[in-house]
Amino acid sequence: GRPRVFVTRSDVPEAGLKILKNQCDVDIWERSTPIPREHLLQRIKGCDALFCLLTDKIDKAVLEAAGSNLKVVATMSVGVDHLDLPDIRAQNIPIGYTPGVLTDATAELTLALVLATSRRLIEANKAIYKGEWKSWSPSWMTGPKICGSVVGIVGLGRIGLRVAEYMHTLGAHKILYTSRCEKPEGIRVGAKHVEFNTLLEESDFVIVTIALVPETRGLFDCQAFSRMKKTAIFVNVSRGEVVDQPALIDALKNGTIRAAGLDVMTPEPIPLDHELLRLDNCVVIPHLGSAATETREKMSVMTAENILAVLHGRPGDMPAPLKI
Ligand code: GLV
Ligand code: GLV
Repeated sequence: GRPRVFVTRSDVPEAGLKILKNQCDVDIWERSTPIPREHLLQRIKGCDALFCLLTDKIDKAVLEAAGSNLKVVATMSVGVDHLDLPDIRAQNIPIGYTPGVLTDATAELTLALVLATSRRLIEANKAIYKGEWKSWSPSWMTGPKICGSVVGIVGLGRIGLRVAEYMHTLGAHKILYTSRCEKPEGIRVGAKHVEFNTLLEESDFVIVTIALVPETRGLFDCQAFSRMKKTAIFVNVSRGEVVDQPALIDALKNGTIRAAGLDVMTPEPIPLDHELLRLDNCVVIPHLGSAATETREKMSVMTAENILAVLHGRPGDMPAPLKI
């Protein structure tokens, strides 16, 4: 019969679902909130393919619940840290993800977050409603500009490179980056490969676009923040877990760094009474990096195509996430 695909969310853009429905029996979780684990373990039984999101933890227990029919796990995200890669690979199950299609949207959101943080857009907007705008003032709500600054990019992958290009266009004086290896592509924008500590010490903006892997978990700890300039702006669009969050909160409270812009944090969603939400020098956005309408459609289509590539016996047609 037709292959069975399980989709873990009701509001996945229709474009991808339509492609799947042409060829497969598609079962979709009924709600627009993350599927509870026990339901996932039930619904995946006997499926040939799983279409999941970054809110679904896919590990050995899920694979066991699925049974031997499972041929592919495809996530509608570029991040794969929610997938237990060793467990999935141990069963020879190809893994689909969506690099490339969200690079521009995520780099644009990063730029927005850099500007919102440095030029204090959220704080200034709130100030109006609090009646604090008394007059135009020479030094009220001032902050650093990108033009002439030193920008440090931690992880010069697709997104990091695009962010580097945008910063270069805006007149950044120097662009530094760290990466597992030197990236010849960086030359186009004059980006210079440096040691992590050098990047921390020299950058006015520290922008994190690195994947969450065991080596990057907690990378930004108390020591890292204390190496940064007191005027540094820290922006994270990768995963909250690359940051030791209590250390970041201390750094923001004590003036170790100037401000932070976070598209990602721990936990997500962040509780309303969380200390991060009480800091004027922290801009928090609810994980919207790829949230451009057209981008989400493309991610949905790419995830469906990844599934079909494997079901049609062409797993090589789908990009493979880095071995970690
Ligand atoms: C978003 O965080 C993604 O991994 O696609
Ligand atoms: C990571 O995949 C990136 O696109 O930077």
